Amino acid sequence: MTQAALVQLAYIAASILFILGLKMLSSPNTARRGNRVSALGMLIAVIATLMIQGLEFQWIILGVLIGASIGMTAALRVPMTSMPEFVALFNGFGGIASLLVGWAEYQRNIEVWGGGDVSYMTVIAIYLAMLIGGVTFTGSLIAYGKLSETISGKPVLFTGQQVVNGLIAAGVVICGILYVINVDSPQIPLAYTPFLIAIALAFTLGVLATIPIGGGDMPVVISLLNSYSGLAACAAGFVIQNTVLIVSGSLVGASGMILTIIMCKAMNRSLVNVLFSGFGSASTAGGVARQGEAKPISPEDTFLILENARSVIFVPGYGMAVAQAQHAVRELAELLEENGAEVQFVVHPVAGRMPGHMNVLLAEANVPYEKLVEIEDVNPMIETVDVAIVIGANDVVNPDAREDPSSSIYGMPIINVDLARTCIVCKRSLASGFAGIENPLFFKENTRMLFGDAKASMQALVSEFKE
Ligand code: TAP
Repeated sequence: MTQAALVQLAYIAASILFILGLKMLSSPNTARRGNRVSALGMLIAVIATLMIQGLEFQWIILGVLIGASIGMTAALRVPMTSMPEFVALFNGFGGIASLLVGWAEYQRNIEVWGGGDVSYMTVIAIYLAMLIGGVTFTGSLIAYGKLSETISGKPVLFTGQQVVNGLIAAGVVICGILYVINVDSPQIPLAYTPFLIAIALAFTLGVLATIPIGGGDMPVVISLLNSYSGLAACAAGFVIQNTVLIVSGSLVGASGMILTIIMCKAMNRSLVNVLFSGFGSASTAGGVARQGEAKPISPEDTFLILENARSVIFVPGYGMAVAQAQHAVRELAELLEENGAEVQFVVHPVAGRMPGHMNVLLAEANVPYEKLVEIEDVNPMIETVDVAIVIGANDVVNPDAREDPSSSIYGMPIINVDLARTCIVCKRSLASGFAGIENPLFFKENTRMLFGDAKASMQALVSEFKE
């Protein structure tokens, strides 16, 4: 077998491992193994690529050393709560890498192509890698800034924004046409100048397309940028004719897009609405201001209710992450079980601020996976649940999503905790959540408000049980 055939075989093996790894990532039980399987695939792909003859190893080794040390230091130091912005940075680096691969390949071929010997597929792939990579790079930096609160998370909106973006997009198309039709000209600047202008336009477009999106919607944007970084890598794969880069880029592109769509569906919003509505600015909240009497409850009285409960569901939300209450929640759940109650956890797909936010926290606190149930399984039997405990969740349990067509979250699937026999809501005040709207759940007949920091409240309940 020739070395080239061996490399291609290794690429096929790596691609299969990527696909198997992705499949395993879809369940918490197999996710860790999936990560390892995918990493093994990447190791095989890297070794196979290094076997290709004619490579200059000194630069590759230097790159590996610099990249690995930055990656390892960052991964070891980043706290779990900063994971979304960390992923944003990774996407951005993926984007700029594809841009540089495309640019370098153009530079390498510039004289040959100028002499008329052009591969148009490579020419177009270079442009796409540069364009998508450039947008992904600056878009990801803005997403990073918004999430880490280095810049304001508020949507930046100005008159004529869409027109400006449209003009830039038109500029990108015109530059692309000039670059392609002039790439075989001996007068190199005729193609090179529009190419350089297009790089600047791609960077600008990445910034302008991301600033109008509110900080709260950044997880969706990050997932979308992740998809873009995959597409840019795929284009770079075509540029350097590397099969495994094409396959892995396509997988990242497709899975990022699927995750984006899942998140939009879980919020009952379209991608267009997420990208262009400026959600999170004062004017988008909607809904009706509501007056009512909320009924506060003390930890002591909450304990009396819980002590008699036979079935309890926990509904965690963003507040549990803020309070870092997951360990106290798990302790309370165990005490309830010891007391004879059936305990389950219901996690809404967009609870918190990133995909899987609650799942990660509950896993960290060693809540068994089998205790987690889907909304579709809980809602039909929620009337039989004795107590629903809402821990720092708000929008994902707002009955307006079911009942009030004027609400901005109308139609979003929610956990119907208001239909449980008793609902205990644990948060610090009656303040609204991410969507900025009031929650009639707080004023329902069967709702009791356990005011305070989620961790302190959970610990108070644990103490009551232990006493
Ligand atoms: P939210 O609706 O954002 O509500 C969180 C609540 O937590 C707040 O109302 C706050 O009330 C409470 N809270 C904050 N700190 C607390 C603490 N230390 N102790 C107790 N409570 C605390 O959360 P949710 O129900 O999880 O909904 C998530 C929202 O984010 C949805 O609107 C969703 O569409 C949006 N979103 C999510 C994602 C992903 S991927 N997860 C992506 C984009 C958008 P107090 O201030 O009164 O305590």
